[in-house]
Amino acid sequence: MSSDKLSTLLVNAGRKEKYCKGGVNSVIQRASSLVFESVEQKKFATKHRGERELFYGRRGTLTHFSFQDAMTELEGGAGCVLYPCGAAAIANSILSFVKTGDNVLMTGGAYEPTQAFCDTILNDMGVSTTYYDPMMGADIAKLMTPQTTVVFLEAPSSITMEVPDIPAIVNAVRAANPTAIIMIDNTWAAGVLFKALEHDIDISIQAGTKYIVGHSDAMIGTAVANAKCWERLRERSYLMGQMVDADTAYMAARGLRTMGVRLKQHHENGLAVAKWLSQRPEVERVNHPALPEAKGHENYQRDFSGSCGLFSFVLKEKLTQAQIAHYLDNFSHFSMAYSWGGYESLILTNQPEELNAIRPAGPVDFTGTLVRVHIGLEDVDDLIEDLKAGFERLR
Ligand SMILES: Cc1ncc(COP(=O)(O)O)c(C=O)c1O
Repeated sequence: MSSDKLSTLLVNAGRKEKYCKGGVNSVIQRASSLVFESVEQKKFATKHRGERELFYGRRGTLTHFSFQDAMTELEGGAGCVLYPCGAAAIANSILSFVKTGDNVLMTGGAYEPTQAFCDTILNDMGVSTTYYDPMMGADIAKLMTPQTTVVFLEAPSSITMEVPDIPAIVNAVRAANPTAIIMIDNTWAAGVLFKALEHDIDISIQAGTKYIVGHSDAMIGTAVANAKCWERLRERSYLMGQMVDADTAYMAARGLRTMGVRLKQHHENGLAVAKWLSQRPEVERVNHPALPEAKGHENYQRDFSGSCGLFSFVLKEKLTQAQIAHYLDNFSHFSMAYSWGGYESLILTNQPEELNAIRPAGPVDFTGTLVRVHIGLEDVDDLIEDLKAGFERLR
């Protein structure tokens, strides 16, 4: 897990006096109009409107600037664009770098709505998508064409949790086409457990909805870009009207302050539950990147500094719908919900055929029901007891 340095950074990032004005946290500045004191000041604000200068509500206020500074510092970029949710961050990042005739190389393990965005909106625009096997590593070079302008990663894959060999993919893409833009959905690593920009990725995208907000009560998206991509991403996202209200930006910044301890606890609890699950006779495989049996474990070990609370496991048996309902409906500490990254534990199931429908680069290699869990901040013994009772219900 990460050192104290990260925790210290999370506590302090973006809390400049010009944003906090004597308080511990940034002010909440709600504004559409920002008032200029003189023609000279208006000229200055207009000239520097992309550089965190108060200009117009849609360009952000002190509250946004504080959170953007924090994210830029944490992920080591040139700047951070804010979006109303993670899906908007993904869609707008891609849209900012493609035109008709281009090709996007998309991981076959991408979050389902990311795939649907490619298959519908990009497709209608005349931008093609090629899905690649996330575990293909340097072989991705074979899929690169002169039209490939964006290569998109997600690590680990949604639901099935494979960890790709990111350096192999990045190096192969750079060698094949140095101008292609490489982006990653870095939500699982909360932008800090995997340092995307240090791995030569151009844009690190997050659903801040998850661990940054951390309490399942607000939605926000972030995209931290390197110097090469920052201005274009910022200006094109602005033209597409991407904006977050000041209250949500404030909630996100507040979430950062405790994200270090929360992530450490999610990591510890998640690993304890994963190890327990891997000993259970009902379980075929635990897809937790920190366990040696997980696909891409060696990549995780090399490139990540810790894990969060989200992982999955595959049962030996394929459950019937009645069994699934009996299993899921009766947990005490696990709720059913799609979003994740809050303090609470969650559980959902996927049948192999449901997963195959969202695995365009090839089918899954198991036949049992997959269970996805988010391990929250409850006492781990209570969670294990609850999961044990769940297995008993399957008898
Ligand atoms: C990996 C991943 N990326 C992006 C998103 C989308 O985030 P949001 O719900 O904020 O649009 C999700 C949501 O579940 C996700 O799991």
